[in-house]
Amino acid sequence: MKTKQIQNLDGFTGTLLIPVFETNSKSIVPIEFHGTSVASKVFYGKKDTHYLVEKYDCTHVFIGLGKELDYKSLKTIFRRIASKQKDVLGENVVLVVPNEFNSTQVEAAISGLVLGTYNLGHFKKNEIHPFLNPNFELQIFTKKDFDDAITKGIKIANAQLETFNLVDLPSNTVTPKYLADWAIEAGKKYGFSVEIFGKEKATEIGLHSFLAVGQGSEREPQFIIMDYQPEKSKKHIGLVGKGITFDTGGLNIKTAGMVHMKCDMAGGGAVLGAMQLIADLKLPYRVTAIVPACENSVDAKSFVPSDVINSYNGSTIEIIDTDAEGRLVLADGLSYLIKNFKPETVIDIATLTGSSVATLGYECGALFTNDDDLSKKLQQSGDEIGERLWQLPLWDSYKSDIESDIADVKNYSGKPVAGAISAAKFLEYFTNDHKSWAHLDVAGVAFGDDEFAKTKHATAFGVHLITKFIENL
Ligand code: BES
Ligand code: ZN
Ligand code: ZN
Repeated sequence: MKTKQIQNLDGFTGTLLIPVFETNSKSIVPIEFHGTSVASKVFYGKKDTHYLVEKYDCTHVFIGLGKELDYKSLKTIFRRIASKQKDVLGENVVLVVPNEFNSTQVEAAISGLVLGTYNLGHFKKNEIHPFLNPNFELQIFTKKDFDDAITKGIKIANAQLETFNLVDLPSNTVTPKYLADWAIEAGKKYGFSVEIFGKEKATEIGLHSFLAVGQGSEREPQFIIMDYQPEKSKKHIGLVGKGITFDTGGLNIKTAGMVHMKCDMAGGGAVLGAMQLIADLKLPYRVTAIVPACENSVDAKSFVPSDVINSYNGSTIEIIDTDAEGRLVLADGLSYLIKNFKPETVIDIATLTGSSVATLGYECGALFTNDDDLSKKLQQSGDEIGERLWQLPLWDSYKSDIESDIADVKNYSGKPVAGAISAAKFLEYFTNDHKSWAHLDVAGVAFGDDEFAKTKHATAFGVHLITKFIENL
């Protein structure tokens, strides 16, 4: 979306978006802007309300902000306007920036407006959103210069829109190859290198655990490695994202919720979106990211419960349940990343367990780490932008859950308790005791219900969180 800052509204005709902080329903002073006033009785800036006035060839959209605003609410308010008020958004639209707004608030508002262009109807005949018209230019009426905040807000939303697409498109479109191609294209456009290992190369270097998950699928697994290396980098961060393009459960076939399992690459989708954003913002950190992408299918060639498989780090794994596949691809992703790139901090993100959803619901992701400083920084970064994390324990007393009699480790405790924790303990086993590793289980927050669609859909959880975390280092 193109934008232009303007300093006056002389002769303007079109739509004015006018955010208003809450006053009082009994106030005798009406809300007033541009010669148009609204009695407090009908509109006084209450959060999540809006009021339309047609006057002087202009549609005035008064937008209620409430009294105090957090980043996420502000973004959602503007996403709602762009998404649900399409009919009043013509060719000429002005966003009026309240004098009270700081640059972070401008960033959130702009990001929300851009996200509001998202349309879930990928396979429908749709009219294009007015903001996506090639000639459209959003005019921003402001007394201060918010150029940087505007540009950043657009970049954040663009990366999140990419992740929306990757997660919401079905698995017969978003195959492992599709993710690999996306990474290659994004690498060229934003400036990071990309290497893809297909089945042959992955076999040659011994990504056995990753390959076991994909062996029942017609779609070739793709081990995606991305490396963003700015000229001067302060620190080296490693990312790994679960890229299961569809999770049937394998031979332990899912009996509930399978229809949603195109979302099982949302961790990988967040890593891909974050790589775009980190490179687009030219952050001065080296970031190496891996997305092990494959499909967990049902087939004569599928791995079966009780199989013992090998892994990249040489440890053997007893398969108790083929539906606990995410940890198998992440195990090889983590060991490969840590052994070959030695990043100073490693973060993995995955729709890993139903247990994390049972524990925390849809409010926050589950965070696991032994590094208190990393935990604090991740939580603070999430709080700033409304992608919250809550820490769960990684105590060694849970280690017995993954001890196997036949192999070095097993992929599931077999017990219906503490599933998110034992999954995290399994991942920890493959981190080679890395001192600064965190695991984010985002099964409850990556794909969900909200006001923007009838069905569950992508949230892009993690794209901004990971980027903010790196920015805040
Ligand atoms: N992909 C699922 C986890 C999931 C659940 C993602 C809900 C999104 C929403 C994962 O691979 C899985 O199936 N986990 C099992 C593990 C169990 C068999 C040990 C689970 O959590 O039930
Ligand atoms: Zn599964
Ligand atoms: Zn899964």
